[in-house]
Amino acid sequence: MNPRNVGEIEDPSGVGTVGNVKCGDIMKVYLKITGEGIVEDAKFKTFGCGAAVATSSMATEMIKGRSIDDALHITNKAVMDALDGLPPIKVHCSCLAEEALHAALWDYSQKNGLAIDGLKPPVNDIEELHEGAFA
Ligand code: FES
Repeated sequence: MNPRNVGEIEDPSGVGTVGNVKCGDIMKVYLKITGEGIVEDAKFKTFGCGAAVATSSMATEMIKGRSIDDALHITNKAVMDALDGLPPIKVHCSCLAEEALHAALWDYSQKNGLAIDGLKPPVNDIEELHEGAFA
């Protein structure tokens, strides 16, 4: 009901945008990362349902102050647990938050010539990762 971290970061360290063609929702995540690799700030803009907004809000809250590695390993399940769960039909919305965060980390890694262990190139549409899972 009270989403946190809505908006943009000026001059971000990384930006990631991911959508879901099935529902038409889009999420954009902005990160500010310190020279020591700590997520100093995280913001988002979401064109989507209430669950997409709630998971974006929680995901950005959960990664602030954390290392890149910690941020990378925050799963959609952890975000859903922190929200006391989501109905099964809304699970895909939480995947959008996880993937947008990964896309922003990827952008950061590319801009800085870094390899982040376990980070894969982002997809534009989460259906590419979870084919048929949300039908
Ligand atoms: Fe599309 Fe929730 S219905 S993100």
